[in-house]
Amino acid sequence: MTLLEAVDISKSFGGIQALRACCVRVEEGEIVGLIGPNGSGKTSLFNVMTGYEKPDTGSVRLRDKPITGSSPRTVFGLGVGRTFQLTRIFPRLTVLENVHVAAQRPGFAAGLGRWSAAKERARVTELLDFVGLTRLQDMPAGTLSYGQKKLLEITSVLIAEPTVILLDEPAGGVNPTTITYLAGRIRELNGRGVTFLVVEHNMEFVMGLCNRVSVMHRGSTIADGPPAEIRRNPAVLDAYLGD
Ligand SMILES: Nc1ncnc2c1ncn2[C@@H]1O[C@H](COP(=O)(O)OP(=O)(O)OP(=O)(O)O)[C@@H](O)[C@H]1O
Ligand SMILES: [Mg+2]
Repeated sequence: MTLLEAVDISKSFGGIQALRACCVRVEEGEIVGLIGPNGSGKTSLFNVMTGYEKPDTGSVRLRDKPITGSSPRTVFGLGVGRTFQLTRIFPRLTVLENVHVAAQRPGFAAGLGRWSAAKERARVTELLDFVGLTRLQDMPAGTLSYGQKKLLEITSVLIAEPTVILLDEPAGGVNPTTITYLAGRIRELNGRGVTFLVVEHNMEFVMGLCNRVSVMHRGSTIADGPPAEIRRNPAVLDAYLGD
């Protein structure tokens, strides 16, 4: 079943057309990669799919219901989590405090006050353990390594228990050990039923992790298929070499 879908999305910023009839589809249970050269529109598409930008034309559908133009809060409340290319954490708060702040975000059970304080504490503890940040939980988040900040941001998304998570360059600037660890965590979550759409320039990471890859070029999707097929698609190579 199609969980999340962007259909024929176009979006211009002034004279720049960031998205041109762009289509991306994520089936329930998949890990889909979204690749493409710099400026091809990947982040713009994420922004449209999560309510941060309104498309000029086209529609975004969640479980076949239109959510086009909905606010980020509404989209988030429907179980769509996302991270940002530039990590959004509170550097002066501790790791633990960051996740508790994230739990207050309106739109899901904890943020609507449906979780008791004890339940929230238990979930935060469990999640920090899951991402391996327990021993750093009392450190100011600003002192973490880049990769650890990315893990913390993902934790702050996971606390809402989203059904689908959009990751914008989770491995960018992260050391190889943490990248491997991160891929393992994503696989584990996927095994528990979480669906992923992942933007990433690290090809080894994308090709090893995703069961399907969509390729963007100049605002449009130019290819879509299993990693092995995408690797030998000449149009994909041209898109990268041409830019
Ligand atoms: N808010 C904005 N205002 C003006 N132009 C924008 C805005 N957001 C994106 N763009 C432009 O839209 C195009 C697509 O940018 P986008 O950030 O979506 O690409 P990307 O594929 O995420 O690139 P990268 O791999 O470098 O992150 C670029 O030309 C960019 O400059
Ligand atoms: Mg981007």
